[in-house]
Amino acid sequence: MKFSAAVSLLFVASASAFAPASVGRSATQIAAGSNQNPFGNVKSLEYTGGDDPNSSNYGRLAEKLNEADIERRKIQDEADRRERAAEIRREERLAKIAYMNDMPDSQPAGTVDEFMFKEGVQDQLDKLDHDLVGLTAVKQRVKEIAALLVLDKMRRKLGFETSVPSLHMSFTGAPGTGKTTVAVRMGQILAKMGYARRGHVVLATRDDLVGQYVGHTAPKTKEMIKKAMGGVLLVDEAYYLYNAANDRDYGQESIEILLNVMENNQDDLVVAVAGYKDRMDKFFSYIPGMMSRIGNHIDFPNYTADELVQIAAVMSRDLEYDIDDAAYDTFKNYIEERMKLPYFSNARTVRNAMDRARMNSAIRTFEKYAIDGVNGGVCTVEDLKNISAEDFQIILDDILDGDSSKRIFA
Ligand SMILES: *[C@@H]1O[C@H](CO)[C@@H](O)[C@H](O)[C@H]1NC(C)=O
Ligand SMILES: *[C@@H]1O[C@H](CO)[C@@H](O)[C@H](O)[C@H]1NC(C)=O
Ligand SMILES: *[C@@H]1O[C@H](CO)[C@@H](O)[C@H](O)[C@H]1NC(C)=O
Repeated sequence: MKFSAAVSLLFVASASAFAPASVGRSATQIAAGSNQNPFGNVKSLEYTGGDDPNSSNYGRLAEKLNEADIERRKIQDEADRRERAAEIRREERLAKIAYMNDMPDSQPAGTVDEFMFKEGVQDQLDKLDHDLVGLTAVKQRVKEIAALLVLDKMRRKLGFETSVPSLHMSFTGAPGTGKTTVAVRMGQILAKMGYARRGHVVLATRDDLVGQYVGHTAPKTKEMIKKAMGGVLLVDEAYYLYNAANDRDYGQESIEILLNVMENNQDDLVVAVAGYKDRMDKFFSYIPGMMSRIGNHIDFPNYTADELVQIAAVMSRDLEYDIDDAAYDTFKNYIEERMKLPYFSNARTVRNAMDRARMNSAIRTFEKYAIDGVNGGVCTVEDLKNISAEDFQIILDDILDGDSSKRIFA
């Protein structure tokens, strides 16, 4: 086994490189501690007579003793820290070598596809496909990130050095374009791949992070961070944390804590900031440290009218309703008109429209059977599931009301 010979050579080399060096180091420290005057050869420490505790010499001696003591403790702490770090490195290296030793020469790295399936990543990507209509570019980006994690994991399994670039993310796009859904799937992918312990998503807005009074912000921000540990902290409309007009705004404190956590807790927390693209770009220009800590930017485009119609179809499927074939045109008409009006929010607007259409369907069916007594008051299963053109026509009329003050926006 050519490989194994090389490995054991490595083992000997590294064992001798680490073990005796550290033994040597601690031995030197002990010698230094016991043989040398720990106070150094400071002239002013020499006894100059008089035991008057108020004499200036007495005070100086106490001070010097104290200083020497602190200095000595610092050196000791630093030495301990270095030794612990060396020990951890040594153990990691030994574990890696043991892994390589145990691995048969013939073991293939495995195919990327195999890993995608085995680790359940493909499953999450499929779910994302199922949950989200369209968004091809977004799905492609998620897939790329997943592929990077999979390859990193394969390298790790073979004992190679790995370093995943920052997993912090920025999701830009209008409301209702699927940012939260993607965050949830990303969290699951990270968990499946072992980059997050839990992979849950905690959604936070400025109100959750920033307090109203002095001293309230840090605890609030830290509380949300604590909740999100092991998963994803999704900060929606993150730019509200920064108030350019007021440099004493408490949001600043929250940003500083977030930046710190993003830097120091990379392996246990992924921070995702979300919001409109233009405002987010501005936010990053004010807080360049935020930009530099984010490794993945995903841009969520608006849905087209056709995609929104498809989203409605998926929603009705999930809610166990049937949109009548004749109703699709009316719904598309509604969506096209609605897009031109304020507060349009993509999939969220579709959900609201669907909720109102279901309500209209219920009212229609109730009137038909309970009030008009059609069919002796007995309604069919189809009636209970049916969302018809009339049901959408009502919400279309509402937004097109000639008297604009009477318009109802869902
Ligand atoms: C030393 O100083 C303290 C206060 O500074 C004073 O009360 C005390 O009497 C002094 N003692 C002597 C021995 O001078
Ligand atoms: C998305 O649509 C909104 C209006 O609903 C518009 O203001 C915004 O600029 C659009 N965003 C993109 C990226 O096209
Ligand atoms: C749904 O209701 C509409 C209006 O009452 C009706 O014209 C249509 O045939 C119904 N569709 C189904 C599948 O029952």
